[in-house]
Parts: sequence; C-alpha cells; structure tokens
Amino acid sequence: MSERHLIYAANWKMNHGPAEARAFAKKFLPLVPSVTGRSLWFFPPAVSLGALDEALAGRPDIKVGAQNVHWESKGAFTGEISIPMVMEVGARAVLVGHSERRHLFGETDEQVARKTGAALKAGVTPLVCVGETLTERESGRTEQVVVRQLGPLLEVLEPAEWVKVVLAYEPVWAIGTGKNATPDDAAQIHELIRMELGRNGVSDRVPILYGGSVNTANVGLLLTRPQIDGVLVGGASLDPEGWADLVEKGSQAKVRPSGGYDLADG
Ligand code: PGA
Repeated sequence: MSERHLIYAANWKMNHGPAEARAFAKKFLPLVPSVTGRSLWFFPPAVSLGALDEALAGRPDIKVGAQNVHWESKGAFTGEISIPMVMEVGARAVLVGHSERRHLFGETDEQVARKTGAALKAGVTPLVCVGETLTERESGRTEQVVVRQLGPLLEVLEPAEWVKVVLAYEPVWAIGTGKNATPDDAAQIHELIRMELGRNGVSDRVPILYGGSVNTANVGLLLTRPQIDGVLVGGASLDPEGWADLVEKGSQAKVRPSGGYDLADG
C-alpha cells in the first residue's frame, strides 16, 4: 500500500459459512459504491474465503483476508493453515495478533512478528492488532503494553517493509463488550503508536485503525479524529445493511470539504 486509505475491516470471527457469506455479498454490494481512497476488507472464516472472494469479485475497493495463518508455508502443523493456501482461495490480507488469538489461544508477540514477516514475504497485507487488557489499562500500563507488543515487529521488519503493514489499536476491554474507547483515548494511543514507529524510522504512511465495539452510532465521532485511519469491526459487520450503513456514516464524518478523506497526512 503506497498511501493511507480510509479502511473499513470486517472481522467476522466464527460466523458466516460459505452460503451465508455469498448471501451477505449479494445484499451488500448494491448498497455501497466503490469510492476512491476507501477500502473495504473482509475477514471471513477460512472456509468462506473462496466463496466470498468470488462473490465480491470485480470491486477494486474490496479485498478479502484470512483471520489467522501459520508462518510456515507447509508441514506437520495439524489444524493450521498457511499463507500460500489462503492466497490460493483469494486472500490478499491476513489478520495477525487479534486479541482473541493472543488471549484465548496464547499467541505471543514473537509469533505475531513471525506471521507478519511471513505475510509480507508472501505479498499479502498484514493487519496487525495491538491493545491492552482492562487490568493493564487500570494499572496505568497501556502505553507500556502497546510499545512492548510493537517491539518484536520493529525488530523483525525492515523500515521499508512497514509501508505494506496496517495496524489496528484494539483495547481488549472494548472488544465485543459494548464499551468503546472514547475518541480522545483512541487518538492518544494512535499518536503513541505513530511516535513509536517514527522513533524507529518507520514511514508515517502506515494506516492505524481503531477497533472495539465500533457501531453506526460511534463510528462518526471516532473517524473525525485525523489520527484514526479506519475501523476494524466484529459484531456490527455481520449484517449487510448494518455494515453498509456504518461504512457510509463513517465516510461522511471523514470527508473533507475538498473531497477526499481527512487522514492525518492530508
Ligand atoms: P467488536 O470486535 O466490534 O465486536 O467489538 C472487534 C474485533 O474483535 O476486531
């Protein structure tokens, strides 16, 4: 990715098999036009990738991606799936280090960095998630945790590779709970992330999304912050009408009088 786009990423988690994914696409496509500078990403369960990719074909603004991959391209890893395999069925992005992977399945910062490196080598866009738990926030360790999570990534990736990475700040306490970070809280951590990247010589063109209980009612306020380049959404992305509405509401909030989107770098 050579420039920062406004990105709407739908994380379907363990919802929507192939038939439901096709039905979603049929309803969704006529509701949301393709717009320059705005990208729509879908992360369906792996078994639905091929069906969804086919159903959404012909839209340059849309891409599908896998929710999880292994860093090896093949081998004796029962239950895992490789990057070349998901690419074969249409994935052009991979979600890496989602908090459910980190906290429910024990994924470490180092594994997140290995997966990110493997995605970049294979030519798919990694969408890498970071974020603190409630205990970490309440004990004043939010910044420390986010910087720690970025550490192995900064070690493994060359500065030049970062232009192909997308980050998402998702406070764990806000995911699926109905409690979202205030636009101020989110913007503050987005700034911290950008400073940390800058200190390490990483380009300011890395988009940083916000995720955690984003819905049609709060997306506008979040996206009016220039630090927030888009949203990563679970629950509110499952229904085609609702997701289309969220995309339109968010985009209206972000649009500048001159047209285009109000991202931090103009
Ligand atoms: P949520 O999930 O929008 O349902 O809070 C966000 C995510 O897990 O990416």
